Amino acid sequence: MEWLLVHKKLLEWYAQHGRKKLPWRTTEDPYHIYLSEVMLQQTQVKTVLERYYFPFLKKFPSLTALAHAELDEVLKMWEGLGYYTRAKNLHKTAKLTAPRLPNTYDELLKLPGIGKNTASAICAFAYKQERAVMEANVKRIICRLHAFKAPKEEVLIEIAHQMLDRKNPFDYNQAMMDIGSMVCTVRNPQCNLCPFSKNCKAYKENYFQYPEKKRKIVPTRKVNILVRHFNNKFYLQQREGRFLHGLWGFEEVDGIINDAEFLVDVEQKYTHFKLEAKVYLLQEEAYEDYFSLDEINQLALSGVDKKILGYL
Ligand code: ADE
Repeated sequence: MEWLLVHKKLLEWYAQHGRKKLPWRTTEDPYHIYLSEVMLQQTQVKTVLERYYFPFLKKFPSLTALAHAELDEVLKMWEGLGYYTRAKNLHKTAKLTAPRLPNTYDELLKLPGIGKNTASAICAFAYKQERAVMEANVKRIICRLHAFKAPKEEVLIEIAHQMLDRKNPFDYNQAMMDIGSMVCTVRNPQCNLCPFSKNCKAYKENYFQYPEKKRKIVPTRKVNILVRHFNNKFYLQQREGRFLHGLWGFEEVDGIINDAEFLVDVEQKYTHFKLEAKVYLLQEEAYEDYFSLDEINQLALSGVDKKILGYL
């Protein structure tokens, strides 16, 4: 492939259509860029932009401020974003590195929650180093260019590295992500607008089924949740197991509870299973760990508990 020409076309496309004003693209602050990359690992740009990125930076304006925060406060700012391990690792990394993140790929890779892709993104965006970002959108572009159905990770990384525009890793990588999310989309790709169409095997075959879709069947977990209440206060526990660790929630109980009154069915999808919860109310005298609604609003709750709160 004639990379010089492709790079030129890619940059022209980015100049015209790219999301150049995204706040993590107009800053050089490694902490801001790192935060955005972690938030964007499993969350869409719109959600991060509209609800999480700015409030988080307002509360923790620097890596040092984050390092000094309590985990509970960090989780509260992450509430609803899901994949809470991200927030815990962000906090750990801040404690390990404040006041400044390291500026080499190898050092970044050693930190909690920073994998190859996030390390590459921080290097390319904050430090303008020659690193190719390899998130899902970019993988899809490469698979389609080469008509790969299920390539090995090393093959993708090698090709991404060869494709990289070494003169401009910042714009190149941002442009690749934008092409992936705006043009080379999973369904109905806009090939007529794509700077790669002439070089794309999937386009020539008039066949968009690259890469192969992996169908994931997730099991359902059925649980009973009990909301103990007394005088407009509700019993909450802080989770201790690995799953949703640190978040607050109502109590999960094994059997049907005598005297409890059925409130509602709620569902929540997680990566590895679907949760179906039957929620019951039980009026029971308060001892400790009963919280008013105002107090509950200060705590970080999981998605399913937040839904239940909406019914109280
Ligand atoms: N997803 C991951 N990194 C991103 C970025 N810099 N811009 C838009 N989406 C992204």
